[in-house]
Amino acid sequence: MTKPHHEMTEQELLTQRQYCEQIQAIYQQRQRGTRPLACTKTFGCQQNEADTELIRGMLSQMGFGFTDDPAQSDLTILNTCAIREHAEMRVFGNLGELSHIKRDNPDFLIILCGCMAQQQSVVDKVKKSYPYVDLVFGTHALSRFPELLYDKLSRGRRVFDISGDEQGTIIEGITPIRKEGVRAWLSIMYGCNNFCSYCIVPYVRGRERSRRFEAIQQDFRSLLAQGYRDITLLGQNVNSYDGGSDGPDFPELLDALAQEPGDFRIRFMTSHPKDCSKKLLDVMARCDKVCKSIHLPVQSGSDRVLREMNRRYTAEHYLSLVDYARSVMPDITFTSDIIVGFPGETENDFEKTIELIERVRFHSLFTFIYSRRGGTRAASMPDPVPREEKQRWFDRLLDVQNRISREENQKLVGRTMRVLIDGQSDDKNYPLTARTDGFQLVLLKGTADHIGKWADVTIERCSTWALFASL
Ligand code: SAH
Ligand code: SF4
Ligand code: F3S
Repeated sequence: MTKPHHEMTEQELLTQRQYCEQIQAIYQQRQRGTRPLACTKTFGCQQNEADTELIRGMLSQMGFGFTDDPAQSDLTILNTCAIREHAEMRVFGNLGELSHIKRDNPDFLIILCGCMAQQQSVVDKVKKSYPYVDLVFGTHALSRFPELLYDKLSRGRRVFDISGDEQGTIIEGITPIRKEGVRAWLSIMYGCNNFCSYCIVPYVRGRERSRRFEAIQQDFRSLLAQGYRDITLLGQNVNSYDGGSDGPDFPELLDALAQEPGDFRIRFMTSHPKDCSKKLLDVMARCDKVCKSIHLPVQSGSDRVLREMNRRYTAEHYLSLVDYARSVMPDITFTSDIIVGFPGETENDFEKTIELIERVRFHSLFTFIYSRRGGTRAASMPDPVPREEKQRWFDRLLDVQNRISREENQKLVGRTMRVLIDGQSDDKNYPLTARTDGFQLVLLKGTADHIGKWADVTIERCSTWALFASL
C-alpha cells in the first residue's frame, strides 16, 4: 500500500522564503551591503550531490554568493555521507580544519547536514567534542534549512535538529543551483525500503517516496531548455518509482521522458536487481535517447552471502537479467558495486564473486571493503575474517576487474563511437573529456570550443580507465 507523499505545501514554501528574506536582511545589516559568501562541500553519492544543489538554491534565495574556499566564506556547509566509516572520518577531519577559520573569524558559521547528521550518535559526538559547529540538521529537516539557520543567527545558540518524519517531505518549488556543463542530476524518488542488512541508507534517508510525474517532467524540460544534454534520473532504487494510481511506473516514466523533443540522452541510477524488470530493459532497448548502460549493483556472487545481505535475488537471477539485457541490447555496458568481506563471508564465497564478474565482464566496478554500521542488522553478525585477509581479497578483485576493463576497452579500439564532449582533462595531449553512451570515458584531442557538442570519434588506443581519440 502506498501512502500519499507529502509534498511541501505553498504555505510551507512561503514560510521558508520569509526566513530567507530575514537572513538576507541580517547579513545586509552586518556586512553593509557586501554580499555574503557560502561554501558547500559534498561527501556522498549523487543524491547527496543533488541535495547540495537544492541547498545552494536556498542559499541563493538568502542572498549568498558562492566560493570554493571555506576561508573566504561566511558560512561553510558540509553535506555528509554515512555509508562507510571512511566517509565519516573525512567529515570529522574537515571539521578540524574549519575550526581554524572560526578562530580567526568568530562570525564564521560551520554547518553539518546530510545522512551522517541524521544519526543521534553523531549529534551527541558533535555536541560534546565539536563545540565550534553551529548548526546540525538531518536529511528529514532539509526543507526547513532557512528556518534553522535563522534560528541560529537570531538566537546565537547552537542548533541541532534531526526531527522530521521518516516518510519525508518532498521539496518542490526551489530551483537547484547546478554545476555548469552538459550533465545534470534529476531526483525522481527519495528514500529506501529495502533494508539490505549492511546498509545505513534506510535509517538516514527514510522511506521511499516519489515525486509527481508532472513535477519531474517540468524539471526535465527546463533542464533541456538550459542546455543540459545528459540527464541522470536519481533515486536509491529507481525501479520503485511510483507515480500514484494514474501515474507512471519507472519504465513508463523513462519512456515518456525519452519522447521529449531534442538532442539529449537519459541515464538512471540506481536500479536494484530484484526489481529490474524485462519491461524496463525493453524500454531501454526501444528508446534511442536512453543510454545503453546500466548500473546494477550485485554486491556478491554467493547466494549464501546475498541471502545474509537481504538482497532478495540469486546470482543466477542476476545473470539471467544480464543475458536478457544483452539479447535486446548487444552493446549494453554494465557497472556494479561489490562488497568484499561481509560478516561471515568465506574464501569460497569470495571465489563465487570472482566467477560472477568473469561471467558478466563489467565495464567497471565500485568495490568496497565491508564497513560496520551501527544499528544495521549486519552489525551484530560475527565477523571473524581479519582485515588483512579482506584486503587480499579486495586487491585480487581489483586485479581481475582491471584486466577485464582493459580487455573490454581494447575491443573498442578502431570502433567509431558517438560521444558527448563534456569538459577539459588534465592530459595536455588529450585536453578534452567526453562520454560514450555506455558512460565510458574518452580523452580527446581537440579544442575547448567543442565542449557541449556531440561527435563521432574513432577510438585510437586505450588504457584500463579510458579510451583515446581525436576530433
Ligand atoms: N541504493 C544503491 C546503493 C547505495 S550505497 C543500491 O542499492 O544499489 C552504494 C554502495 O555502497 C552499495 O551498493 C554498496 O556496495 C556499498 N555499501 C553500502 N553499505 C556499505 C557498507 N556498510 N560497507 C561497505 N560498502 C557498503
Ligand atoms: Fe542500501 Fe540496499 Fe537501499 Fe541500496 S537498496 S540504499 S544498498 S538498503
Ligand atoms: Fe551516503 Fe547518504 Fe548517499 S549515506 S551514499 S550520502 S544516501
